[in-house]
Amino acid sequence: MGKIICIANQKGGVGKTTLTANIGAALTLEGKTVLLVDLDAQCSLTMSFGYDPNNFDNSIVTVLDNPSKVGQAIFETDVENLSILPASTMLITVDSNLISKRDRYERLKKALDKVKPLFDYILIDCSPALSTITINALVVADYILTPAETKIASHFSLDAFVSTIETMKAVRNPNLQSLGVVATMYNCQANEDKEVLASIQTNNVLLGVIKRTTAVSSAVKKGLPCVLVNRRTVVAQEFRTITNKIIEKVEG
Ligand SMILES: Nc1ncnc2c1ncn2[C@@H]1O[C@H](COP(=O)(O)OP(=O)(O)OP(=O)(O)O)[C@@H](O)[C@H]1O
Ligand SMILES: [Mg+2]
Repeated sequence: MGKIICIANQKGGVGKTTLTANIGAALTLEGKTVLLVDLDAQCSLTMSFGYDPNNFDNSIVTVLDNPSKVGQAIFETDVENLSILPASTMLITVDSNLISKRDRYERLKKALDKVKPLFDYILIDCSPALSTITINALVVADYILTPAETKIASHFSLDAFVSTIETMKAVRNPNLQSLGVVATMYNCQANEDKEVLASIQTNNVLLGVIKRTTAVSSAVKKGLPCVLVNRRTVVAQEFRTITNKIIEKVEG
């Protein structure tokens, strides 16, 4: 039975999508079957594998509207053992539509429960908001992984986010376990980054550190995560180390 990990942080631009894409790809390199769920109307995860979100008849919007259609929205990518449930820009309309539904927080769970046995891991890339849609991810997930940029402006909201998740756990999903924080876009030359990293480490379980590098954006331009574009780069190794720690924590 697959394990579901949601990658979330209320702060925008902290590396959620990059982490989801690279851990997903790195898990396939470890022989795992993976489903990536794009739960953000920006569709960045779908696009980071080179796909145009406008080209799909079915997407996460179809699934949140009718969870039984989940099988129709998932497709296999060109990367071996990696499938995607794509997003659509129409996802921005879904949150308000869900409000009137009694099962508004369980829609994604109803869908993913059907496909959970088909994958070793399901990773959900959340949008930078604690919306009804993001709560759907927290309800279905077994684990949460939180990327945090090593900048004061990003760090400011981390404690608030972590305590919100604790409340969410108690109310909506007591089984949700935290895998910890991944420090992202780390610049080891900058005092600000060093100080923020030390603070993250003091207050959280630090799962790993990803350095800031142009290898990430140049891989995105090629339509693939950097762990697949150039496996020998430092950043590819960093993503793979974190992935192995996740496997260790999840599979014991
Ligand atoms: N290690 C890194 N080095 C350099 N650039 C990075 C790194 N990680 C991510 N980026 C870049 O930073 C930007 C934001 O990353 P990403 O899209 O993963 O963040 P996000 O948290 O998903 O954003 P959003 O909240 O908008 O969904 C992207 O342009 C991405 O290519
Ligand atoms: Mg994103």
